[in-house]
Amino acid sequence: MKPCFVSPLIQTVGRELGIEVRLEPKYGYAGQLILPNGQKRYFRNNSFDINLLGASEIAKDKMYAASFLAKMNYPVPEGEEFFSDAWCETIASKREARAAYRYAQSIGFPVIIKPNNKSQGEGVFKVAGKIDFFRSVETITASDRVFLVQRIVEGDDFRFVVLDQEVLAAYQRIPLSVTGDGQSSILTLLKQKQKSFDRLKRFIRISFADNRITNQLKQLKLTLDSILGMGQIIQVLPIANLSLGGEAIDLSEKIHPDWKRLAIEITRAMGLRFCGLDFIIQGKIWAQPFSYVILELNPSPGLEHFASLGKKQRERVKIIYRKLLETFLEN
Ligand SMILES: Nc1ncnc2c1ncn2[C@@H]1O[C@H](COP(=O)(O)OP(=O)(O)O)[C@@H](O)[C@H]1O
Ligand SMILES: [Mg+2]
Repeated sequence: MKPCFVSPLIQTVGRELGIEVRLEPKYGYAGQLILPNGQKRYFRNNSFDINLLGASEIAKDKMYAASFLAKMNYPVPEGEEFFSDAWCETIASKREARAAYRYAQSIGFPVIIKPNNKSQGEGVFKVAGKIDFFRSVETITASDRVFLVQRIVEGDDFRFVVLDQEVLAAYQRIPLSVTGDGQSSILTLLKQKQKSFDRLKRFIRISFADNRITNQLKQLKLTLDSILGMGQIIQVLPIANLSLGGEAIDLSEKIHPDWKRLAIEITRAMGLRFCGLDFIIQGKIWAQPFSYVILELNPSPGLEHFASLGKKQRERVKIIYRKLLETFLEN
């Protein structure tokens, strides 16, 4: 089993702060924190006793989060929610796959389809037409009742990590990509990429049979056997999750103070203290906020892939966890 990334860091930081950390011994993914005053706090992997339960539940529900954000005039993706056919029967709703397809037609293909409640890019599809659409809906509704159909937001993906009044990290995320060498096939390049993830201990499994990869290549008129020219870069996935092999560019020191204020304000407005905010931005984050959309809020943001960028980023992640544990010592 993959060792937990969070637990050893929490143990180190706990020691520094005089907090006793008792890990669940069998798997090591959960822990009890015993504060100097005897009070107990808990964590499970990326989830800490920091955010209130209601706010966390809303944040994790993409549709509810977007609804409250939009009411407060924050820009969110244009989209609607639909239900699996089975759930439609149970709740007597007409918002089933066919209604979703009609909605997709009305906003125009390609569209994004995704489960309402998952993370790490699981079940997120960019679909270009009818066959793909129904196939993707079928995949999602095999395990999810609620799915979203959204218009594609153009721009770059960014993640801001906020704790109370501070933005503790900010980075751009670029979807899994390969760079040609004039002789290797895309499949070979992806296998090399896999090896580089293994060397970096990023614990990513590129699924070479993922139809999102084949579809993306098809749109570029390529296949896994195509050979890319020297230096030619192509994105092989349409989605930027680091857990799917996306690359992060650390911009924590470059981000404009107005972006920081905005990310802090949104976190607070959504009732959260600790949050990973995902934005799609048209423009630069070292300039004042211009055009952006809030894609989603993560009340339990994973920091492992960001930490794998290098020593500086690992140190930054340690500081984030130290500040997080310090909040437990506040009163
Ligand atoms: N409406 C959209 N427009 C453009 N890209 C999107 C859209 N929705 C999702 N994506 C891409 O897919 C990724 C994953 O989607 P997201 O909604 O964040 O789900 P998850 O919770 O699985 O990360 C995003 O980081 C982004 O790259
Ligand atoms: Mg996401």
